[in-house]
Amino acid sequence: MSVRVATVADAHEVAQLAAQTFPLACPPGTRSEDIEHFISNVLSARNFEAYVADSARAVLVDETADSGLIGYAMLVSGTPADPDIRAALSQHPTLEISKLYVRPTEHGSGAAARLISSALSHAREAGCTGAWLGVNQQNVRAQKFYAKHGFEVVGTKTFVVGVQTHDDYVMQARL
Ligand SMILES: CC(C)(COP(=O)(O)OP(=O)(O)OC[C@H]1O[C@@H](n2cnc3c(N)ncnc32)[C@H](O)[C@@H]1OP(=O)(O)O)[C@@H](O)C(=O)NCCC(=O)NCCS
Repeated sequence: MSVRVATVADAHEVAQLAAQTFPLACPPGTRSEDIEHFISNVLSARNFEAYVADSARAVLVDETADSGLIGYAMLVSGTPADPDIRAALSQHPTLEISKLYVRPTEHGSGAAARLISSALSHAREAGCTGAWLGVNQQNVRAQKFYAKHGFEVVGTKTFVVGVQTHDDYVMQARL
């Protein structure tokens, strides 16, 4: 088990994992066509090829020798463009943990903890004094997980999935 930075060679497998795990973070009632729209427009292999090549982003993957990729996270550096999110954050420079998803069979296994520890190390090494993320207001499991790793709710934002707008909390950790 280890966390490493993904390369373009991982794009296809990360996209498969992303498609499998994205629905787990959506609140009950999310329409399947909206989920499919998001997966094909944001989480395709072509998108991940671009994400791993983007100097403002890092895609981290956790893998085991037997099972291949079991989780991934995507980090985005820089000040968020949304003025409400900027106003909610007290720590700058900051880094966004834009995605953090683990295969359901590995929930509670420590894989997510390895990914978030690695993400926070990455942020510290980049000179950030904070890290932030958005999490659906109904995703209590993820909120508890982030709170265990030093995040607290500092604001709210919206997140568009297909034609639906979801309500998120903005959470921040001081590094
Ligand atoms: C969010 C995620 C990465 C967290 O990883 P994890 O391995 O499940 O996290 P942990 O088990 O360490 O922590 C989750 C906590 O929520 C608790 N929990 C589990 N199911 C829960 C539920 N339905 N409601 C409330 N709390 C719940 C767990 O008991 C645990 O708390 P504890 O350590 O005090 O017992 C993982 O669940 C995941 O990939 N979920 C699907 C994708 C997702 O939601 N990603 C986040 C998008 S912002």
